[in-house]
Amino acid sequence: MNYRDAEPLDCDWILTCRNDPETRNQSFNSKEISLEEHTLWFNRSLTMTNRKIIIAEYEFTRIGVVRLDYEDVETIEISVFLEPEQRGKGYGQIILKGINEYAVEWLPSLKQIVALVKQTNLASIRAFTKLGYIQQHVSVDNIVTFKLTL
Ligand SMILES: CC(C)(COP(=O)(O)OP(=O)(O)OC[C@H]1O[C@@H](n2cnc3c(N)ncnc32)[C@H](O)[C@@H]1OP(=O)(O)O)[C@@H](O)C(=O)NCCC(=O)NCCS
Repeated sequence: MNYRDAEPLDCDWILTCRNDPETRNQSFNSKEISLEEHTLWFNRSLTMTNRKIIIAEYEFTRIGVVRLDYEDVETIEISVFLEPEQRGKGYGQIILKGINEYAVEWLPSLKQIVALVKQTNLASIRAFTKLGYIQQHVSVDNIVTFKLTL
């Protein structure tokens, strides 16, 4: 798996993956996103120093998108979604495993990675658990917080 920073040319492909019904179903904002709204978000994201949008590729094919955000320099929040055709093939776990090294290279002071997952998102829960993320708590609106200590 190869990781690279997202580029302006990835904008439309990311939106297609993001607007997929299953991605929307598993997102905290489930509504369909317009190209205009997405482009504003994406262009702003590319300028933010505390955010990284990463494209995971396998043999030059884009597989998925990872977003990393931090507010303090020891904790990153991670979010991931794959191109719909690439799901259920084990890529999610491979991407999440490999991203740790990329994240530490970006933020050397990093100590923990946090993920917020809907309690109904079985593939994510399984993937994060298998990768050593520990479930912290479940909120009243059924959001599970996972934490990986590096
Ligand atoms: C969540 C996601 C990143 C997982 O990646 P993936 O490549 O599809 O998942 P994997 O193939 O690595 O499977 C992870 C585990 O979940 C299981 N799994 C996969 N799809 C599943 C499904 N639909 N229901 C239940 N379990 C599932 C797999 O069997 C595997 O467990 P195992 O290793 O014990 O067999 C991907 O499905 C996705 O992009 N989903 C839509 C967006 C999303 O939910 N993002 C996460 C928000 S936190």
